[in-house]
Amino acid sequence: MIIFKKSQDIKDYILREKTLGHKPGFIPTMGALHAGHLSLIAKARANKMLLICSIFVNPTQFNDKNDFEKYPVTIEADIEMLENAGCDVLFLPSVDEIYPGGPEKAKGYDFGYLDTILEGAQRPGHFHGVGQVVARLLEIVQPHTLYLGQKDYQQCLVLRKLTELMGLKELKVEICPTVREADGLAMSSRNRRLTESQRAIAGLIYQCLVSIESKQHAGDFSVVKKECEDIMKAKGMTPEYVALADAHDLTILENYDADRPMVALIAARIGEIRLIDNILVERH
Ligand code: PAF
Repeated sequence: MIIFKKSQDIKDYILREKTLGHKPGFIPTMGALHAGHLSLIAKARANKMLLICSIFVNPTQFNDKNDFEKYPVTIEADIEMLENAGCDVLFLPSVDEIYPGGPEKAKGYDFGYLDTILEGAQRPGHFHGVGQVVARLLEIVQPHTLYLGQKDYQQCLVLRKLTELMGLKELKVEICPTVREADGLAMSSRNRRLTESQRAIAGLIYQCLVSIESKQHAGDFSVVKKECEDIMKAKGMTPEYVALADAHDLTILENYDADRPMVALIAARIGEIRLIDNILVERH
């Protein structure tokens, strides 16, 4: 695996590889890699891509200073994991390399409605930061395919919109299914900050999502939503939202709607750790 720290160096390398017919598949990450990231890598490998990962803990997407400061950094283990997974290229830039004129000067994008709901509402400025960094990374890497994890469902829709706003018509965006622990907890870098007792209850988020899906014929989402909130609160968790939305455009649904593709989404805090998860609501 070749490690690049300078944008111009990786850009030149990828351009050369492209002339040899290699297609860059890009997986942007903030490190603290886990099986979820490895599944994206496996997908890109199966698609025979020139496999490019980036690790950059982007300061501009953290609306909570504490979350940024405590974000796990495990670079040595990450490099080993990427090498074992067959990653070809790792981009490991500094803040100056990503934001040469400072983050304030980086181009921002307007995601409209998508930035006003759920994660956008709970984490003001978060998607602005995600848009800034991914736009810059896409300009540098110019991938054939961008691989994203469904766990960050709203982020996937925001980044699809980003590629439209950037006019990247040729870029393929592949959204890969969430990888889960045995109790259903979605793999996330933040999971490693959970204490043993917090970890013991964290699977409840997924159980709530499954109950939202399984109760779709009972009719009233507000009842199911309240049940989920109560169960989570009873275990000491703080739900931020329990929502049902149109899976295409994230229009918030007050109730189940058999005529629309639906996604159920939850954000909840366990102590100071904030976790998010979602499932596509399958029709039974
Ligand atoms: O999902 C993440 O890890 C980050 O939001 C991303 C896409 C790497 C941008 O910093």
